[in-house]
Amino acid sequence: MEADRLSRTLLAWYDAEARRLPWRSPPGVYADPYHVWLSEVMLQQTTVAAVIPYFRKFLDRWPTVLDLAAADSEEVMAAWAGLGYYARARNLLKCAQHVASVLGGRFPDTEDGLRSLPGIGDYTAAAIASIAFGRATVVVDGNVERVMARLFAEQAPLPGVKPRLKQRAAQLAPQERCGDYSQALMDLGATLCTPRNPACGLCPWVRDCQGRLQGIAADLPARTPK
Ligand code: ADE
Repeated sequence: MEADRLSRTLLAWYDAEARRLPWRSPPGVYADPYHVWLSEVMLQQTTVAAVIPYFRKFLDRWPTVLDLAAADSEEVMAAWAGLGYYARARNLLKCAQHVASVLGGRFPDTEDGLRSLPGIGDYTAAAIASIAFGRATVVVDGNVERVMARLFAEQAPLPGVKPRLKQRAAQLAPQERCGDYSQALMDLGATLCTPRNPACGLCPWVRDCQGRLQGIAADLPARTPK
């Protein structure tokens, strides 16, 4: 399978079918780092559908990271109420204050720089670096792992196979539009390449998917029996 053709096919699908989520910019355009950061923190342990109204509420009330940094902590906690995992909200404010007071309101544009901020781990740093700054790094969540396990018919079980699936995703990544590529994989996993009953007939990779060709797509990724 040629990486170039596969990533081009995926990006063409993304351009036509991407979910128009409020923190995204149009395909091919870098998103605002504040929007990406806020959405990624909210999306940790919370579904896209649940996050959307909260994301809109936060942006209405605090349109920039400087506005959020100046916010009253009680008010931020109240706005967060319902999303759960309140440590995320406390870190959110801490991070905004750091970006405002130490960095003049600008998010760092590298993965390392982002990872040094309060509450930002490997996953979130990679997401912001690629989606907001076009850095060549892939973002791998459970959706992406499932898509890779199926595309390459990786039958080794989770969690041991994770590094291999990440490597697969990285090998397919295009030089340009790396953030769109990661988000396209997330969307494919969330909308078509679902855990049960994948909609293979609509998938841009239907003819390339080794799991599909072998008739085992729906059984992947494998899990170590408990
Ligand atoms: N889940 C976490 N980050 C996401 C993103 N950027 N797009 C869709 N789902 C996500």
